[in-house]
Amino acid sequence: MRLQEQERRQLAHDLHDEIGQAFTTLKVNLQAIQRTTDPNRRIASLNDSFSIIDQTVQRVRDMALDLRPSMLDDLGLASAVRWYVGKQGERAGIRTKVDSKDIPAGLSPDALVACFRIVQEGVTNILRHAEASRMAVKLRAVKEGVEVVIEDDGAGFSVKEAMAASGERPHLGLIGIQERVRTFNGQFHISSVRRKGTRLSVMIPFDKTA
Ligand SMILES: Nc1ncnc2c1ncn2[C@@H]1O[C@H](COP(=O)(O)OP(=O)(O)OP(=O)(O)O)[C@@H](O)[C@H]1O
Ligand SMILES: [Mg+2]
Repeated sequence: MRLQEQERRQLAHDLHDEIGQAFTTLKVNLQAIQRTTDPNRRIASLNDSFSIIDQTVQRVRDMALDLRPSMLDDLGLASAVRWYVGKQGERAGIRTKVDSKDIPAGLSPDALVACFRIVQEGVTNILRHAEASRMAVKLRAVKEGVEVVIEDDGAGFSVKEAMAASGERPHLGLIGIQERVRTFNGQFHISSVRRKGTRLSVMIPFDKTA
């Protein structure tokens, strides 16, 4: 529940700050266009508005993806992971290797979403914290389930400290991954070495009741 609360807070923050801000700026631009007769100023306001709209459309898509990764249904987990990691790597300008093999049926729908969320959090952490020059994401079927490995060659950190979750603002990303994995009776390993990088690996078992 704490995880869900954190996700809602993030969404509220995105809606308020980013989308709210975008509309406020659009309104200011429209008012400027309404008031001025100077064609250059009108064009400047229009161009600024177009670029705000483009950014906002992208943000809304990203937020929708955060709420429910619908391409999981359309593409399947392996392609969704390839697509997501490729896109993020490109955007951040970091060398990215994705090895995402199609997996046999056997994960429950919840487990598919969990795998995708774990990739999202792992990759987001690399882009936010690692200052890495490379990242690599691997998804493959193993005997008992699906294994996800996320590696970077960045700054590294103290896993023990990061997961103690004390301090003013608790870090919920890694703990969230750990909790998700635990719900599925899976495995979670993380190792990190300063100035060498980080390796996160999880295994989510196939659903035996399916
Ligand atoms: N790949 C990484 N490289 C370097 N540092 C990392 C990496 N992943 C995590 N960390 C460190 O571990 C801390 C905890 O990560 P965690 O994902 O739990 O929280 P967070 O990213 O700070 O916040 P959030 O709750 O939004 O995820 C981070 O603040 C960062 O210092
Ligand atoms: Mg995080």
